[in-house]
Amino acid sequence: MGLQDPVEAGAAGRPRIRYVPAVGPRLRKLLLVVFVLFALLAVDSVYLGTITWFEWWSGNTLQDYFYQVVFLLHLVLGFLIIAPVIVFGPLHFRNAWKRPNRRAVGAGIALFSTALVLLLSGIALTRLGLFDLKDPALRSGTYWAHVISPLALAVRSTVLLAVARAHRHRQFHSRQDADDGFLLPGMPQRHLREVGP
Ligand code: HEM
Repeated sequence: MGLQDPVEAGAAGRPRIRYVPAVGPRLRKLLLVVFVLFALLAVDSVYLGTITWFEWWSGNTLQDYFYQVVFLLHLVLGFLIIAPVIVFGPLHFRNAWKRPNRRAVGAGIALFSTALVLLLSGIALTRLGLFDLKDPALRSGTYWAHVISPLALAVRSTVLLAVARAHRHRQFHSRQDADDGFLLPGMPQRHLREVGP
């Protein structure tokens, strides 16, 4: 049986549910790469956005050499983050989509969809030569999708963490109740085995 198959035969031939972590050690490393790149991009973007805002507010051009370097860094980091996000999303989904915490699964899908909007809008805005988004209305819509999606990402990550925490909290109390003998035999214990510690 592979790591991804949580059901395997037990000693007595009965199916035994094996815990597969939604984020295992290798995915954890990949997630760390995503976090580091995202944090660098966040700092970089705050600088770019601040300069753009001051330009709009003052009517002066403020984009100097340093701005160009920071913008180039944005493109480099932006292209670097694409692969880890695209690889992490489906691998994590494969481990997590059958979990009983359906709200967390829904929150995860919403989070990944927002990440795709962020990445695709970034690629669309990049003047690659082959493909240039020139139409002003389309470019403006894509620009705002690109600026708003990181904020939506931050909100959705917080929702996901809150939903996951609430579930663990309920699990903890179910386990305590089980220890105290308050549970109906079978049900929550099975549930705990499926979800893991
Ligand atoms: C965590 C990921 C990202 C964040 C937080 C982010 C954030 C931002 C923000 C706030 C701006 C507006 C800056 C300004 O108004 O001056 C911007 C612009 C831009 N971003 Fe990103 N971005 C991310 C990823 C990417 C990716 C993956 C790409 C391309 C592959 C990309 C390409 C661009 C481009 C080309 C612009 C300039 C748009 C324009 O001024 O027309 N970004 N980004």
